[in-house]
Amino acid sequence: MAFSDGVADFRSDTVTRPTEAMFEAMASASLGDDVYGEDPTVNALQAESAALFGMEAGLFVPSGIMGNQIALNVHTSPGQEVLCVEAAHIRNFESGGGAVTSGLQFRTVQTEGGIITVSDVDRLVEQSSYHLPDIGILTWENTHNSSGGTVVPLEIMTDTGEVARQAGMAVHLDGARIFNAATASGVGLDAYGAVVDSVQFCFSKSLGAPIGSMLCGTTEFIAKARKVRSRFGGGMRQVGVIAAAASVALEHRHSLGKDHDLAKQLAKGIAALFPGAVDPGAVKTNMVMVDTTDLPGRDAVVIDKLAAGDVLVACLTPGVLRFVTHRDVDREDVDRVIEVFASL
Ligand SMILES: Cc1ncc(COP(=O)(O)O)c(C=O)c1O
Repeated sequence: MAFSDGVADFRSDTVTRPTEAMFEAMASASLGDDVYGEDPTVNALQAESAALFGMEAGLFVPSGIMGNQIALNVHTSPGQEVLCVEAAHIRNFESGGGAVTSGLQFRTVQTEGGIITVSDVDRLVEQSSYHLPDIGILTWENTHNSSGGTVVPLEIMTDTGEVARQAGMAVHLDGARIFNAATASGVGLDAYGAVVDSVQFCFSKSLGAPIGSMLCGTTEFIAKARKVRSRFGGGMRQVGVIAAAASVALEHRHSLGKDHDLAKQLAKGIAALFPGAVDPGAVKTNMVMVDTTDLPGRDAVVIDKLAAGDVLVACLTPGVLRFVTHRDVDREDVDRVIEVFASL
């Protein structure tokens, strides 16, 4: 359902507002000083999250970026490289964090859908020589945002990760939307956890919490991560107020199929009007990428017409609009979008 002011916001799944249940959980949460490790609500959420991924320990952090950046910092040494796809969030949208906070540079693979193959890693390992930087870490992003919420298959993560580990790399998963990936693939969260050294996931994306991310890994990794979180200024005190909302949001992982269905309906509705603009078969999770190149008026006109109908959409690259479905939009809102496309 659109927000109470009538706006249907498809720009991202980060725009959701806390539910009544979240506010109630926040109001009644048991609290303590989490920098001392004494917040029972945070401790429970960390333990639950780690268990979901079959990992030893978790660390609650304010944001996905902080989770990713702590992982880079703990797993690598300055002067090393991060191996990721060219369109990775960790490289493109984290304000140069890897370079500034950990002295890293990026080695990218140009690829479809966030996939790095065994042969990509083999090729890079073969090229390595004494004057080239060592690749310290392989990072996955699943789902892959810039590709339109695509799912990186577990088999690819397993095989490529194994080769990367043999070459001395750590393996980190930017799982900002890993619950969408798991919903679409039917793969268990613990299976993803088994093929990486650390995972970061966000409560504040498709799960619908107002704030918060979790970093999981071994007990040793999390002890180091806790220190780096402090260095980055991410230690929070009675943060159980936020963890309580995140804990409610975590249950929403079981309902993400609805968001995926809505995204499919949106794609099919637009494709019925403009078959070249979107491929419904490419919609795997909660994102729909619409190519406006051949649409009347291209981006500007479409965005204006949507805005006139109180519908918001993101334009991340000229010629491509991204619609993201989430718990605060419904079938009626999708129909509003389709009506606007019909009016073009
Ligand atoms: C794939 C991915 N990773 C990490 C992040 C960063 O999360 P945050 O905004 O909580 O820092 C985002 C945010 O959109 C994302 O899409």
